[in-house]
Amino acid sequence: MTSSIGRDSPIGSSSPIGRNSPIGRVVVLLGAPGAGKGTQAQILSKRLGLAHVATGDLFRAAVRDETPLGTVAKAYMDRGELVPDTVTIKMLLERLSKPDAAAGILLDGFPRNTAQADALDKALAEAGGSVDIAPYIEVPESDLVARLSGRWICRAEGHPYHEQANPPLVAGVCDIDGSELYQRTDDQPATVQARLRQQLGALAEVVAYYRDRGLLKPVDGRRGIDGVSEDLFASIAAATGTQG
Ligand code: AP5
Ligand code: MG
Repeated sequence: MTSSIGRDSPIGSSSPIGRNSPIGRVVVLLGAPGAGKGTQAQILSKRLGLAHVATGDLFRAAVRDETPLGTVAKAYMDRGELVPDTVTIKMLLERLSKPDAAAGILLDGFPRNTAQADALDKALAEAGGSVDIAPYIEVPESDLVARLSGRWICRAEGHPYHEQANPPLVAGVCDIDGSELYQRTDDQPATVQARLRQQLGALAEVVAYYRDRGLLKPVDGRRGIDGVSEDLFASIAAATGTQG
């Protein structure tokens, strides 16, 4: 089935998802800042054949390219606040209209509040789809600061590393694409505290949103990266009928 969102949508997207083919599997990866969403999304999107869609990465690309969207987003990101929904939802829907999303999507960092969750459900429904599962990587707040303060990511693709838990083979260089590693400006201690203070409440509401719909799958994020991957893969495979 093909259908469109946008023409009638109050959000005003001009790029309907599901325009070329029906939307495939939809996985919403939940977790606090630093829980390991990006790390796991990069592993699992390849293994599952899903498009990895990360709103934080889209905003960072816009900031890097100095676009008008990047100028708006940067002010919020630097304060550790969520970027306004109108801007974020429009950007997300435009990304989902790209051909690679038709095979299915693994969302990382969206939705961040219940308004975004509602907007996603409506857009998917109009494209004949729905969220299949919302795995929730649970990590104690006390561990998040250490994860964020030791993180380095690559300039080219945002591949994440950690000084202790997941160091690169060569210091300062991405194992995968050879680009330079850097520390995100919002991983400064003061901004990390602001992100946790301002965003954990909204995360709890999103967790409840998916729990109420029977889609939430909590996963213990205190394990090593490989162990968390295996738990997530098993949950997603069971929910989507994927062969392991
Ligand atoms: P975003 O980029 O989405 O940041 P975030 O949600 O704060 O999450 P992070 O990327 O910091 O952490 P992660 O869970 O991906 O962890 P990672 O895998 O890197 O958003 C940034 C900003 O953009 C927001 O603050 C907001 O302003 C804006 N924004 C984005 N989306 C938005 C939206 N939908 N609405 C409004 N605003 C939005 O891992 C962290 C570290 O831990 C790494 O060093 C990694 O190597 C290490 N690690 C990972 N797994 C393990 C493990 N199992 N054990 C030990 N270490 C581990
Ligand atoms: Mg991330």
